[in-house]
Amino acid sequence: MFKNKSSVKLINYYNLINHNLIYNNKAINRYKKDKFELAENKAKSLEQLKKTIENLKNCDLKNHANNIVFGDGNPKSRIMLIGEAPGANEDQEGLPFVGRAGMLLDKMLAAINLDRKKVYISNIINYRPPENRRPTEGEIKRYLPFISKHIEIINPKIIVLLGSTAMNALIGNDVVISKMRGKWIEKRFGNCKACVIITFHPAFLMRQPAQKKMAWIDLKMIRDKKTKLKI
Ligand code: URA
Repeated sequence: MFKNKSSVKLINYYNLINHNLIYNNKAINRYKKDKFELAENKAKSLEQLKKTIENLKNCDLKNHANNIVFGDGNPKSRIMLIGEAPGANEDQEGLPFVGRAGMLLDKMLAAINLDRKKVYISNIINYRPPENRRPTEGEIKRYLPFISKHIEIINPKIIVLLGSTAMNALIGNDVVISKMRGKWIEKRFGNCKACVIITFHPAFLMRQPAQKKMAWIDLKMIRDKKTKLKI
């Protein structure tokens, strides 16, 4: 194909500048950050938070544990689940809810068409309390800023609190789970505004299977909210 001099010049010129700007007549949004940049910021913030927790000084929980249990699942998810603290299996693997309670949690999620790739999971406390005891008030107070920051970074639209430790830590000590479960509460965590629901902890449901029917009501509420929020 023959090209005259001026058309060659023009082609060279179009190649030199960004030809998308010429052929694409869509307005350029200079304020919208692209998805990659957001994802990179989120990953960096999560890494920083994890390092801060790993650098904690004088923490008995940390000193007795094998691994930090930080989080699992999809950090981009709009649904975040929060449990109490890691157990022995979680401490070994460094991942939340991988023991028997975790297996039940997976089944609960599957019942509403969710799985670990579609949600993000963490705990109030990031290290296993010895003998799987409940974390103390002091321990919860110390770790509260970390889970609050964690929520802010993930920025979910739906937060599911699993059990009374997560509920008391994040909602307050003056409430009981039998009255609070199965209700939506709007709550802010820094810049994150989320719909929070409390349900029974899977370990409790293993001890009290009769309560599974109440947990099923809560799960259906989560499924409906997810549809309503187009998540
Ligand atoms: N129970 C929890 O609350 N969290 C876990 O990660 C495992 C069991």
